[in-house]
Amino acid sequence: MTPERRPLIAGNWKMHFGGAAGVELAQAVAQLAPALARVDLVIAPPFTALAACAHECEGRRVQVAGQNLHPGDAGAFTGEISAPMLIDAGCRWVILGHSERRQLFGEADAFVAEKVASALRAGLTPIVCVGETLDERTGGRTLEVVSRQLVAFLDVIAAAQAPVAIAYEPVWAIGTDKNAGPAEAQEVHAAIRRHLGGKSAALASRTRILYGGSVKPDNARDLLAATDVDGALVGGASLDAASFGAIAGAAEALAAR
Ligand code: 13P
Repeated sequence: MTPERRPLIAGNWKMHFGGAAGVELAQAVAQLAPALARVDLVIAPPFTALAACAHECEGRRVQVAGQNLHPGDAGAFTGEISAPMLIDAGCRWVILGHSERRQLFGEADAFVAEKVASALRAGLTPIVCVGETLDERTGGRTLEVVSRQLVAFLDVIAAAQAPVAIAYEPVWAIGTDKNAGPAEAQEVHAAIRRHLGGKSAALASRTRILYGGSVKPDNARDLLAATDVDGALVGGASLDAASFGAIAGAAEALAAR
């Protein structure tokens, strides 16, 4: 593992903990950080709690991510949030192209690529999500779908010299308690890294590829032990500091070997 591929454990809080409870959770996560020196920790609270959580985490080795952005910097886009606004709120990261955005809010590959470009311009590190639905998996189309989603933003990330993370999140594994097995995850992660390598060897060696989809304390170790799994994007289990800490602890123990 290259130094750029330090384990990254990110918590996607989705539409939960948007106020004072979010700040409490951020504080609890920050208290875990000293025992997790080999792991990068990121939390993605809802927009309404971003600035307060970022303030809570300042100087405490936990960084904060937005869950989405609009690709424009400013303008008449009621209800939207831009990359410079996320920076102002104290974010260093942003989750983009999550399957819930793609499926429930109609985000197409090209729109996701615009968002990735906007994030990188502003100095945010994007965590770009890709992943197939159950129908696509059973139809044997997993690698085709993931590579289509990846190709849409590949030129953007290859042109930027800045780090980017990619999260492989099979849609059928999100919130279902059905995770991909380590071998299934590894197959897709390796394919993603091969794709990156087709653009540049440096891009392949510096890009962290996270697994997401029902990552829990009891399956984290096996998933994180796979060669091309550089971390996890955790949904439900990130809403409890002890579970999130146990997942990050599995990454820490593997990195210490
Ligand atoms: P769960 O961990 O709840 O399955 O959610 C995964 C996810 O969507 C993270 O972005």
